[in-house]
Amino acid sequence: MIEMQVMTRPDPAQIAPSPTQWRQAMGCFPTGVTIVTTWDELADGRPDPVGSTINAFCSVSLDPPLLLICLDLKNPIRRALERTRLFGVNILCSDSHRMAMRFASEPLNDRFVEFDWGAAEGGAPRLHAAPVFLDCQVQDIHAAGDHLVIIGRGVGAHIDPQPAPLLYHRGAFPRLSGQ
Ligand SMILES: Cc1cc2nc3c(=O)[nH]c(=O)nc-3n(C[C@H](O)[C@H](O)[C@H](O)COP(=O)(O)O)c2cc1C
Repeated sequence: MIEMQVMTRPDPAQIAPSPTQWRQAMGCFPTGVTIVTTWDELADGRPDPVGSTINAFCSVSLDPPLLLICLDLKNPIRRALERTRLFGVNILCSDSHRMAMRFASEPLNDRFVEFDWGAAEGGAPRLHAAPVFLDCQVQDIHAAGDHLVIIGRGVGAHIDPQPAPLLYHRGAFPRLSGQ
């Protein structure tokens, strides 16, 4: 009887958690916080740096160097990233909470105002306040539900002596004890 239960795959549509429940469950997993950057094109053809706060980020492979990010289909940097096929991952430190919120809510083309940045060797915009920067080219894009899984191939990595990271857990930015 127990064996039968283990062998039977229930219909996911009948038992699936709601998007809200899924988001709540995923939010229990603590992560760091990044800002993913690339270039938009203004109406007059000039390039304009754009970015989005992203915590769905992880390492994939060391040789070759690969990482992945998950991007909401509605994320405003999506088109720019698909067009340029290059992006940077700026890993934030604990005092960059305001920057994280700005890159999650301001109008797309206003997000870099106030912050120091420059183009990295591989081409992507680098935010100088971020202690770690990973310069990437898009290797693959996989559709997955309401997100895209974007595999980036590293073409550069800059690491400053690392201060404490910005953390994200259950919708808040907690501090590590001792900070
Ligand atoms: C801490 C945090 C983590 C986020 N992680 C992701 C993510 O992994 N993928 C994603 O597409 N959006 C993520 N977002 C949301 C985007 O930053 C946000 O939807 C987008 O930049 C805002 O654009 P909009 O206001 O035009 O929708 C995150 C937001 C926050 C505050």
